[in-house]
Amino acid sequence: MSTGGSTGGWAARNPAAAVERESVAWPHRHLLGLEELSPDEIRLILDTADGFEDVSTRSVKKVPALRGRVVVNLFFEDSTRTKTSFILAAQRLSADVVDFSAKTSSLSKGESIRDTVRNIEAMGVDLLIVRHNVAGTPHLIAKNVNCCVINAGDGRHEHPTQGLLDIYTMRQVKKNIEGLKVAIVGDVANSRVARSNLHGLVKLGADVTFVGPTTLVPRAFEKMGARIAHDFDKVIHEFDVINMLRIQSERISSNVFPSLQEYSRLFGLSAERMKRAKPDVLIMHPGPINRGIEMSADVADGANSAILKQVTNGLAVRMAVMFLCKQAAGA
Ligand code: CP
Repeated sequence: MSTGGSTGGWAARNPAAAVERESVAWPHRHLLGLEELSPDEIRLILDTADGFEDVSTRSVKKVPALRGRVVVNLFFEDSTRTKTSFILAAQRLSADVVDFSAKTSSLSKGESIRDTVRNIEAMGVDLLIVRHNVAGTPHLIAKNVNCCVINAGDGRHEHPTQGLLDIYTMRQVKKNIEGLKVAIVGDVANSRVARSNLHGLVKLGADVTFVGPTTLVPRAFEKMGARIAHDFDKVIHEFDVINMLRIQSERISSNVFPSLQEYSRLFGLSAERMKRAKPDVLIMHPGPINRGIEMSADVADGANSAILKQVTNGLAVRMAVMFLCKQAAGA
């Protein structure tokens, strides 16, 4: 098994061989979360993604790794980045891709999710990519099908491929995850991205701090390995990476801060607040951004921002995840 700690190593120079070697060690048919992966398994995905990275820069953006396979996107919740990224990643692996529309499906006639996925699988599907607003739905689906299931975000629980692409981007820019000081700022309580980042980063030896108001960053996260801070200005100078989160109003039912302006004044990332940060701090955001709330436009588009790099890297990471899971499932 690969234990490579940084990008640009053997895997990057020998992508085809790396993928072949590393796929032997990957045991999981499904990717449901980063909590259940070992540090070596996370590194294996990152190293395999290294091998796929250059496919997206070729004039013909395709490799035959999943030729003849069928990938179905089952998104029960809206998405721009994740859905498009999985579609393109599957196409770049030469798979056939179906985009299932939950809103126009027979779910509206009372069909259960279990029956829906079993009927879809009966058409010869190899991988199901699942997003749902209820935590645990991808796990439920995985128990009811024989094909691979990849969690594309379940409620507040996990968004493992977002966590992986965030860590991949940090490793690409900062070279090593071990010892990296990472802040995850904002609506941590409602964020599956924060949970997946925390699980993955802590396993790889990073030092993670959750920053935000007490209502959105409860002390309970300390038990999961995060340090907690409520005064952003006091700690901002410490971090190598700052990952900003959106206020997930779709999951918030009561008032958790006095006003958006007040939230932005205390926890938003502005050019003024950036003066307190390390000059080479890496600024990240999973998207979608609410400009002017969690960060200003000049920071989002500034020299320290890796936000579009994250989106680009999502393709290689998702290619790696689909490839490894399908290899583990067998022919
Ligand atoms: N980062 C993310 O999950 O974005 P989407 O909701 O647009 O997929």
